[in-house]
Amino acid sequence: MKAIILSGGKGTRLRPLTYSGAKQLVPVANKPILFYCIDNIVRAGIKDIGIIISPETGQEIRDAVGDGSRWGIGIKYIIQDMPGGLAHAIRTARDFLADSSFVMYLGDNLIGAGIEKFVDEFNRNKPEALILLKEVENPKQFGVAEISKEGRVIRLIEKPDVPPSNLALVGIYIFSRAIHDAIERIKPSKRGELEITDAIQELIVMDRNVESFVLDMWWLDTGKKDDMLTANAIVLDEWLKENIEASVDERSNILGRVSIGSGSIIKASKIRGPVVIGENSVIENSFIGPYTSIGNNVKVTGSSVEHSVIMDESELKDLERLEESLIGRRVKITKNHTTHKALRLMLGDDSMVEV
Ligand code: G1P
Repeated sequence: MKAIILSGGKGTRLRPLTYSGAKQLVPVANKPILFYCIDNIVRAGIKDIGIIISPETGQEIRDAVGDGSRWGIGIKYIIQDMPGGLAHAIRTARDFLADSSFVMYLGDNLIGAGIEKFVDEFNRNKPEALILLKEVENPKQFGVAEISKEGRVIRLIEKPDVPPSNLALVGIYIFSRAIHDAIERIKPSKRGELEITDAIQELIVMDRNVESFVLDMWWLDTGKKDDMLTANAIVLDEWLKENIEASVDERSNILGRVSIGSGSIIKASKIRGPVVIGENSVIENSFIGPYTSIGNNVKVTGSSVEHSVIMDESELKDLERLEESLIGRRVKITKNHTTHKALRLMLGDDSMVEV
């Protein structure tokens, strides 16, 4: 079995973070989302991985992931030269996939466990497609499945105005080579894309076997700010391992599960886990509260930060309380000490600030 990871797209919902980078590289607990996808595929025993990239962010993905040796596998990059949809991406990868069955993993999807069980199920029952479903509150934003009482997939529909159920299609699929025939039979959707949902629906019309699983674990489509913070909190909560390589002075106090990378310095501060701090960061006279991820080369002084993500090379100074915030790279936030209470801001396009 092979795997393709889709890692193109413009990441419009995560702007401004994605102006300067690919959405699949936005960090969750200091690790790019895409790396969790690769981990999951490798853990399922799949060694042949292709990453579909776009001309815009492809180089950045290549630089971050490299040749795959970090995972002990080889990675092939496949350029999708236009945003033609998920089924178009499969068509683009046709030479790489040949006639093999394959996992298709959307590079911004994060689930609470491995995919081994689904791969095993696919190999045992040999359906033409195995899809994962999850109950959601806002099915209109996803592909949605209609399931019979016996659990059979009756119909799939992409972003329906009137959803037939609250079961959304998770962005992880397993296909046999039959999906290629189905893709050749579908037409672009209203948004002008070849939808994978339509291709799987076509398999149903062709009377081919489509199996489904309803996930009993968490699933996050990390496309939005709140989902990013939720993903960060859940991953810190469930997967963070305690590991302190930093220098911590005797006036500091570290409580709970905390990981701090080498070269970082903690001075006169209180850190209450789960918290991850990267390398060469300095935390001084500050409180870092639960569910916070701080990247590399970050400086926090005289501040209190909780339930937030602070990315590489940013600086926070004298902030009374920062909460539920997503701060990109090289951002500076300082309190001004003048007597009149004015805000001085320099914010990029699509920034969001609550004061
Ligand atoms: C895509 C699929 C949709 C699926 C979702 C999962 O949506 O088209 O069926 O439910 O991924 O993340 P998109 O991210 O393109 O809006």
